[in-house]
Amino acid sequence: MSTIEIKPGILYSGVRDWDRRLFDELIPLPDGTTYNTYIIKGSEKTCLIDTVDPAKTDEFIEILNKLGIRKLDYLIANHAEQDHSGSIPAILEKFPDAVVVTNTKCKGLLMDMLGVADDKFLEIKDGQSISLGDKNLQFIIAPWVHWPETMLTYLPEDKTLFPCDLFGSHLATSKLYADRNPKVYESAKRYYAEIMMPFRNNIKNHLEKLQKFDIELIAPSHGPIYNHPEFILDAYRDWTSDTVKNEVVLPYVSMHGSVEKLVQFFIDALIQRDITVHPFNLTKTDIGNLAISLVDAATIVIGTPTVLTGPHPSVIYAAYLTNALRPKTRFASIIGSYGWGGRTKEVLISMLSNLKVELIEPVMIKGYPQEENLKQLNILADEILKKHKDIGIV
Ligand code: FEO
Repeated sequence: MSTIEIKPGILYSGVRDWDRRLFDELIPLPDGTTYNTYIIKGSEKTCLIDTVDPAKTDEFIEILNKLGIRKLDYLIANHAEQDHSGSIPAILEKFPDAVVVTNTKCKGLLMDMLGVADDKFLEIKDGQSISLGDKNLQFIIAPWVHWPETMLTYLPEDKTLFPCDLFGSHLATSKLYADRNPKVYESAKRYYAEIMMPFRNNIKNHLEKLQKFDIELIAPSHGPIYNHPEFILDAYRDWTSDTVKNEVVLPYVSMHGSVEKLVQFFIDALIQRDITVHPFNLTKTDIGNLAISLVDAATIVIGTPTVLTGPHPSVIYAAYLTNALRPKTRFASIIGSYGWGGRTKEVLISMLSNLKVELIEPVMIKGYPQEENLKQLNILADEILKKHKDIGIV
């Protein structure tokens, strides 16, 4: 575990969780994660920015001991989720004079979830600052990155932003800084797709708000620190923009080969039209990769057989997740098969109600695909190309 002075008087005091493979018992973490915390030593007072996941509390306390932290005046809680707040009770026990600094909404959640006493808090408002002596902490209320109570902390004297979840990446690495590493970019994109994408419009507003701040260092609470802030700010401007790419995301399941035949033919049809296609066999795929593809793609086409009277359950899961993630996808369609009937198409369409998509006529076929069915797929691929041309991305 490294403990490094990232600026004079600012110490990295986070914990790496190399082995964690699932977050919220839902999100795959192929590269583990980190719970970053920071000690800021002012000329008069010392503060801690966020804490760590409860499972890592002992390791965290040991780090603080090694850093020689004997007194803590403030504990800044940017976010109430347990991976950053879980050690607050242990920290308050170790440093009984420390005051938890946060906004009203976050205070309420910390009291509800962790039982932190009312008199342990200093409530702050948007734009308010507190002094550590020669350093000042300024608070930026930024709801929905990732919960309604989230806020960012800015340290003007060191031009450093502590945005907690925002700009984070689930990436455990021995390197403290992101530099312009493509691996960090990919991890940050996965993180954006899985956690931030539903709040795209909120984040766009926050990015605008951040423009007036002079930022040299972005120190998030997951993954490496951004020593070139434009690296992640530009990426977020791109991901949150309304621009989509000439790409089709194709999650599918095949049980007896009919959908597989449709999918393979359809992939070739899209490639022939110079449309990038991202197929995901849902029986094998890491759902995070599906989420990443949804960040940019103009179109989603879902492939499914009919099970009983509806879509395959794995397809239902993918459709539910896609709807929850609210990607900026513009067009949607379905390709699938059935034996004797069902409401597969209707069920899937109703499941995508959060998406502002135009539906392109689905191709549902009876039994194994015949020549005329494959022609229908060519028509669907032509229609997708036309739609992509209409919005100027081809
Ligand atoms: Fe890293 Fe929303 O917690």
